[in-house]
Amino acid sequence: MQSYLQLNGVTKTFGDFTALQKVDLAIDKGEFVTFLGPSGSGKTTTLMIIAGFEKATCGDVLVEGRSLSGLAPHERNIGIVFQNYALFPHKTALENVYFPLQMRGVKHPVGLKNAADMLELVGLKGFGHRYPKELSGGQQQRVALARALVFEPSLLLLDEPLGALDKNLREQMQIEIKRIQRALGVTTIFVTHDQTEAMSMSDRIVVFEKGSIQQVATPLEVYHKPRTRFVAGFIGESNIIEATVVDPAARKATAEHIGEIEYAPSEFSLHKGTPVTLIIRPEHIRLSRDPKKGRHNARMKVETIVNYGDNALVIGRVGEQSMRVRVLGADVVIIKEGEDCHVSWTPDSVYMIAK
Ligand SMILES: Nc1ncnc2c1ncn2[C@@H]1O[C@H](COP(=O)(O)OP(=O)(O)OP(=O)(O)O)[C@@H](O)[C@H]1O
Ligand SMILES: [Mg+2]
Repeated sequence: MQSYLQLNGVTKTFGDFTALQKVDLAIDKGEFVTFLGPSGSGKTTTLMIIAGFEKATCGDVLVEGRSLSGLAPHERNIGIVFQNYALFPHKTALENVYFPLQMRGVKHPVGLKNAADMLELVGLKGFGHRYPKELSGGQQQRVALARALVFEPSLLLLDEPLGALDKNLREQMQIEIKRIQRALGVTTIFVTHDQTEAMSMSDRIVVFEKGSIQQVATPLEVYHKPRTRFVAGFIGESNIIEATVVDPAARKATAEHIGEIEYAPSEFSLHKGTPVTLIIRPEHIRLSRDPKKGRHNARMKVETIVNYGDNALVIGRVGEQSMRVRVLGADVVIIKEGEDCHVSWTPDSVYMIAK
């Protein structure tokens, strides 16, 4: 099946700096995709190219198989909300939302009715007469969202739209945006550098680093099967273990301080002696006073315990290998800083990532 939106080898250079390096991406109709990555990794640049505000140095953007090159931004039927994409201060909320319809030649009664309906959809019924300065930050973001959606765009681009909001409002808006996106079925790209936001909202996450895509996968896959060391470190916490394969058929490797370690099935082609990088998430490790039967065990010296209330992070060493273990609050009372304990895990929580 043909994807709805396609980026083919999109590269962008500014002078001799490469901001995007051969980005390939395919997004399905109705999908909610999040661009996640550190500052400067190319997320906004990619959106600007899709929207038509920047031109790719090479490569192409296609919607339903047709190239967008040659189309001006307003001809692309794309709704956009940027973090600093301010509302018109001298227009009311309703006039702001009506504006894109006015630009498209939709006359007053129909246009204003559509704008009012859209304000209602974003939860601002009765706020149409207010000016932006009479609205809270969250309400202004809703007006911006309504303005981006009112002309029924085929694509919605949201660049860190919740960055300026406090935590509670941010979470409320996350739920609102998902609800509206589902109700309208509009294909959406949402940019954030907040991993929790990306995990909770997306059908798929695109992880950017230094102008390249590191992984495109569902939130659970990105979390549980990070493809690269960067993704493993950027999303959640990981214990990263360098090892050497000793028996590929039995999925066994050996690591300097841990000894033999069995890993989950992997897609890599391996032979005896292949150097590999293994990861174990801190919450997949059990901590106990005595070795656990049927699991891989190692002795860990506990160095630091960081309490978070309902859980704690126990940081220690197995030989010289640093290890982080996430334990539920009640379990942490069994050990103290400076003591030795046992850490254990099962092979299915040991994933291999690309070197
Ligand atoms: N007009 C420009 N001229 C020169 N360099 C630019 C320009 N626009 C972006 N860049 C550079 O391209 C890189 C990618 O920028 P981009 O804005 O896409 O990052 P981002 O992933 O959106 O980051 P953030 O999370 O901080 O918003 C950065 O190093 C940036 O400095
Ligand atoms: Mg940006």
